[in-house]
Amino acid sequence: MMRSKRMIECFALMLVLCSCWSSVNAQLNSTFYDETCPGVFSTVKAAVKQAIANETRMAASLLRLHFHDCFVNGCDGSILLDDTANFTGEKTAGANNNSVRGFDAIDSIKSQVEANCSRVVSCADILAIAARDSVVEVSIYFLQITDLGGPTWSVLVGRRDSTTANFSGANSNLPSPTFSLTELISAFGDQTLSVKDMIALSGGHTIGQARCTTFRSHIYNETNIDSTFATSLQGSCPFSGGDDNLSSIDVQTSTTFDNQYYVNLLSQKGLFHSDQELFNGGSADSQVTTYANNQSSFFADFAEAMVNMGNINPLTGSSGEVRTNCRKINSATINSLVNAPVVYE
Ligand code: HEM
Ligand SMILES: *[C@@H]1O[C@H](CO)[C@@H](O)[C@H](O)[C@H]1NC(C)=O
Ligand SMILES: *[C@@H]1O[C@H](CO)[C@@H](O)[C@H](O)[C@H]1NC(C)=O
Ligand SMILES: *[C@@H]1O[C@H](CO)[C@@H](O)[C@H](O)[C@H]1NC(C)=O
Ligand SMILES: *[C@@H]1O[C@H](CO)[C@@H](O)[C@H](O)[C@H]1NC(C)=O
Ligand SMILES: *[C@@H]1O[C@H](CO)[C@@H](O)[C@H](O)[C@H]1NC(C)=O
Ligand SMILES: *[C@@H]1O[C@H](CO)[C@@H](O)[C@H](O)[C@H]1NC(C)=O
Ligand SMILES: *[C@@H]1O[C@H](CO)[C@@H](O)[C@H](O)[C@H]1NC(C)=O
Ligand SMILES: *[C@@H]1O[C@H](CO)[C@@H](O)[C@H](O)[C@H]1NC(C)=O
Ligand SMILES: *[C@@H]1O[C@H](CO)[C@@H](O)[C@H](O)[C@H]1NC(C)=O
Repeated sequence: MMRSKRMIECFALMLVLCSCWSSVNAQLNSTFYDETCPGVFSTVKAAVKQAIANETRMAASLLRLHFHDCFVNGCDGSILLDDTANFTGEKTAGANNNSVRGFDAIDSIKSQVEANCSRVVSCADILAIAARDSVVEVSIYFLQITDLGGPTWSVLVGRRDSTTANFSGANSNLPSPTFSLTELISAFGDQTLSVKDMIALSGGHTIGQARCTTFRSHIYNETNIDSTFATSLQGSCPFSGGDDNLSSIDVQTSTTFDNQYYVNLLSQKGLFHSDQELFNGGSADSQVTTYANNQSSFFADFAEAMVNMGNINPLTGSSGEVRTNCRKINSATINSLVNAPVVYE
């Protein structure tokens, strides 16, 4: 009697330890959808290509969406949620309001995925895949070379979607263009990303656009900026007014994913205060110089850092859900239709 009771207790303890262990160690991998949605990578790739063919800037917007998703409660699709009566979404938080874009494109990609594999692929994973495909697309599309060796990586998947958003977390976690090098290091460090990752990921600014309001003080009030460059930007970004006027972030090659962002920094042509902080006589100077001189080194480190960023605190196993509509959490009815994922503990 005693012995079997001990055995049951022991077994129960093992179960608890085991399930704790497996949820702490739940890892993303590249084969998660191999059985349940083998076409997901090709469907997303084609849909991203379509979105970028319609509007080149979408590559930048999709890359940034994944970043802004991952920095707030992990890569859980929380940025895609619209406001509800129960929570304020992240879309109007400081760094996002009137700034992040690409939500219609994500809806379109999601519906193309749903058409083939219904209720299987999370919105958080779609963001991660679309970010990679965007980078690849602007590396080869404009250079017209497919084997140049632009950055690419195998996207790890298996994330699930959040059932809430974190407005205040978006306000506190997303870096500001007024940040110092120390503040940038700390914001990425808070997300378990290294200084090296931070510098490599900043190369995302080799594509895309920014509003005058985000770089005005840098071009009017700061001295660590090339004066010809500052003057030319002032032409479309007035000292007052024109807050939404756009400039390319990498003014030289704004639609090509290359190392020009770092080359610009060496000649004090960073657009944001925060960009130029990476080459301003501090500890980031040497890595910036390496990337400016060696594009392959940037590509390799960027790919590695994107995987690291994509691993920030994902929901896995039976946590969260797989949303059917990326903008809304599932209704109870929808969730009762979705088979809970089988979890072997
Ligand atoms: C290092 C800290 C960072 C700061 C302070 C920062 C800040 C900004 C700001 C202020 C804008 C312009 C927003 C606007 O005008 O509405 C922007 C745009 C952008 N950022 Fe960052 N960013 C950072 C890191 C990153 C990272 C890690 C990535 C991706 C790997 C990234 C990708 C982009 C892209 C692609 C755009 C252009 C988006 C578009 O054209 O729609 N940024 N960023
Ligand atoms: C990928 O992850 C899923 C979920 O954690 C797991 O079931 C599957 O065995 C993993 N595949 C590999 C090859 O590790
Ligand atoms: C649709 O899904 C099936 C099964 O998941 C897969 O075999 C097929 O390749 C997919 N087709 C497309 C066009 O994605
Ligand atoms: C194409 O891009 C334009 C903006 O340039 C946008 O207004 C439109 O909705 C996009 N259309 C599609 C089908 O994505
Ligand atoms: C808000 O939460 C309540 C209780 O969980 C739920 O019944 C209701 O549907 C939610 N409303 C929205 C808009 O999600
Ligand atoms: C977002 O921007 C709009 C202006 O477009 C403004 O009315 C609103 O107050 C802003 N939201 C927040 C939360 O700051
Ligand atoms: C929101 O984000 C902040 C900053 O990361 C975090 O401290 C807080 O726990 C989050 N809140 C919720 C409800 O997830
Ligand atoms: C530049 O600095 C001056 C003095 O501190 C300030 O009054 C002005 O608003 C600043 N201008 C911009 C565009 O930041
Ligand atoms: C920028 O904004 C100002 C003021 O709103 C406007 O007059 C000007 O035409 C804009 N310039 C460009 C290049 O868009
Ligand atoms: C450039 O970086 C790559 C990748 O890190 C490295 O293999 C190569 O040796 C570097 N080239 C030079 C000239 O330093």
